[in-house]
Amino acid sequence: MNFPMNIWYQAAWAEEIVNDKPLARTIAGVPLVLFRDENGNVAALHDVCPHRFAPLSRGKVEDGIISCGYHGLAFNGSGKCINNLHGPTPKVGTRAFPVAERHEAIWVWPGNAELADPAKIRDLSFLDNTPETAKFRGYMPTKANFQLLSDNILDLSHANSLHLESLGGIQPGFKMEARELDEGVEVTWTAKNVEPNGLTRAAMSEYSLVDQYLHCSWRPAGLLILDGGAKMPGSDEFLEMTRAFHSMTPETDTTSHYFFAVTRITDLENTDVTEAVKKLTYQAFYNEDKPMIEAQQERMGTAEFWSLRPALLAIDNGAVRARRKLDKIVAAEHAGDLTAAAAE
Ligand code: FES
Ligand SMILES: [Fe+2]
Repeated sequence: MNFPMNIWYQAAWAEEIVNDKPLARTIAGVPLVLFRDENGNVAALHDVCPHRFAPLSRGKVEDGIISCGYHGLAFNGSGKCINNLHGPTPKVGTRAFPVAERHEAIWVWPGNAELADPAKIRDLSFLDNTPETAKFRGYMPTKANFQLLSDNILDLSHANSLHLESLGGIQPGFKMEARELDEGVEVTWTAKNVEPNGLTRAAMSEYSLVDQYLHCSWRPAGLLILDGGAKMPGSDEFLEMTRAFHSMTPETDTTSHYFFAVTRITDLENTDVTEAVKKLTYQAFYNEDKPMIEAQQERMGTAEFWSLRPALLAIDNGAVRARRKLDKIVAAEHAGDLTAAAAE
């Protein structure tokens, strides 16, 4: 498995874990069942009953207790068996994983529980602070490795070929700069005096020429914040238009959970603009990115990315830096340095 284990992964949006429904989700190769315990806190248990290994997620949740759907053993949010319908309660349990609810999302730590510090969860308070009228969230399971999804956001030049009709392209005059920090990778694209792309037009329909910028900030393992903005030529004031969160969680080596949230910065009450941005985003993600990236994974099969000797272009600068950083974290973990990712 080519991903770190000692790191927080987004496992769900908070609203996906409702009171009486277990949610089965494999995170970083670990099958989990997520549900809310008797206090309403989310529990993340290994989705395997210790009796005959049935998935607990096929059972039911009542008053914060999950019962196995096969012979009825019941477990609390710590994974401890607390009831046996057919006799004395056995001293057994299933592993509970560290879990945190923050920024409208559920975060799970699949590695060594002693290293799990919720303070290391990326600050996404902009999601909390944006009113519902100016944001939307989505979840798009994708049959591709999570790094192919990160590459897609770190190299937005693909918009010129793939998203011309929806979001619009990155104008050929765009200048790209990639920067590596201790904690991640930052990529900026800027273009002056260009026609607004589709997304900009949705928010600034009255301008025929603008200065555009995009800024992408990546943190391991696959968390990206993408800012989009524009400036009217002749004005010094940048108008920040959207701030999006792209969250790529590995399910297996070749499948991923893609969570996304888009927020708007101005004219917050205007649900028409939110709807227009949402429509373009869903068109781009579901009908353009997803089929292309899944087809890409199909051609790559299960081969390791670098073993295929990909042609490297200047536009890959940010994505390659992010991949190398992640490779280092995984290598350190495999070498026994369990704090490698935790320290990032
Ligand atoms: S397999 Fe779960 S109670 Fe038997
Ligand atoms: Fe895309």
